[in-house]
Amino acid sequence: AINVNDPQLISLVNRLQDVFATVGVQNPIDLPQIVVVGSQSSGKSSVLENIVGRDFLPRGSGIVTRRPLVLQLINRPSPEKLQTNGVDEKELAGDSQANVNEWGEFLHIPGQKFYDFGKIRDEIVKETEAKAGRNVGISPAPINLRIYSPNVLTLTLVDLPGLTKVPVGDQPRDIERQIRDMVLKQIQKPNAIILAVTAANVDLANSDGLKLAREVDPEGQRTIGVLTKIDLMDQGTDVVDILAGRIIPLRLGYVPVVNRGQRDIENKKRIDLALKAEREFFENHSAYRNKASYCGTPYLARKLNLILMMHIKQTLPDIKTRISTSLQKYHQELEQLGAGDILGNSANIVLNIITEFSNEYRTILDGQSPELSSME
Ligand code: GDP
Ligand code: NA
Ligand code: MG
Repeated sequence: AINVNDPQLISLVNRLQDVFATVGVQNPIDLPQIVVVGSQSSGKSSVLENIVGRDFLPRGSGIVTRRPLVLQLINRPSPEKLQTNGVDEKELAGDSQANVNEWGEFLHIPGQKFYDFGKIRDEIVKETEAKAGRNVGISPAPINLRIYSPNVLTLTLVDLPGLTKVPVGDQPRDIERQIRDMVLKQIQKPNAIILAVTAANVDLANSDGLKLAREVDPEGQRTIGVLTKIDLMDQGTDVVDILAGRIIPLRLGYVPVVNRGQRDIENKKRIDLALKAEREFFENHSAYRNKASYCGTPYLARKLNLILMMHIKQTLPDIKTRISTSLQKYHQELEQLGAGDILGNSANIVLNIITEFSNEYRTILDGQSPELSSME
């Protein structure tokens, strides 16, 4: 059996990702990430927000997500004793759901903890505007955000601008190709897990997300389908045939979800109430009642965590080979540079972290996890 919550392994993978991003070195290790793709306004950001269970992403009609967001969720159990973590009350005041055990940190603002999730959203908007302008422009430079919480499963997710056809405002003529290229770059890595988001009120055959996913994953081996806006389907229609794999089969299957609508956003409907409403929707709907435990966001989150763990374990032998290869490469580079030049050199930093990774990785492989060792 797979241990679904293997935070040790995933947090190692997360740290490596950070280091490579910080020193601006091409990542020699292609680490698994869950990448969200789909048409503009299909509900990608809403799905991610529901997985986290907090309001922190800019979302709405039109092009809102304009830079990739690499979102690392880290499960951190609440301490037994009530503690303040030295957090100033004022920092919690702006957000009714704020608490000392749940915070975000941006890679571009090291050391600053955001307890008010509204401020996380403000920072994403600000950073988006800094690189992609105030209008409708896009930028491929990712924003890296970590969320620590007792209420998340450890996962790494990537939110992307939606696929679009027609340039708006001052968008360049080739905006369609620019976004496509940005998405393809993320999903063509063989160990990316593709979360193809499609609104249930559009024909599945016309799903931009699924079409693009098929280009890089024709057998549907690493694509999971998410059907949003189930609540907006015409009366008497449902997605039961899709779920049963009778329309476009995917090995990892489909999960139907209900996010907040535009009016809910305007009325600032609370996310906990939205998740409760989602559960009630599936439990009370005649088409989904008998499979309600396989519907909705909490099921999607568990499924993603499990898929990520299995994926990491399958790719471990390959990751190990890549690590030793890059280790050798950096050793050689360092020798050529001579010992005097290496302090502060990014190769040196990478070397250290890879060595550390390699040691810890060996500990995990040789340690308590027999099913990992048997994969070698
Ligand atoms: P993105 O562009 O794919 O990231 O989509 P957003 O998450 O920004 O959502 C786009 C719009 O669709 C917003 O107005 C959401 O409120 C709305 N929306 C997303 N999912 C659902 C859903 O399941 N039901 C309803 N009724 N509206 C949704
Ligand atoms: Na949108
Ligand atoms: Mg979005």
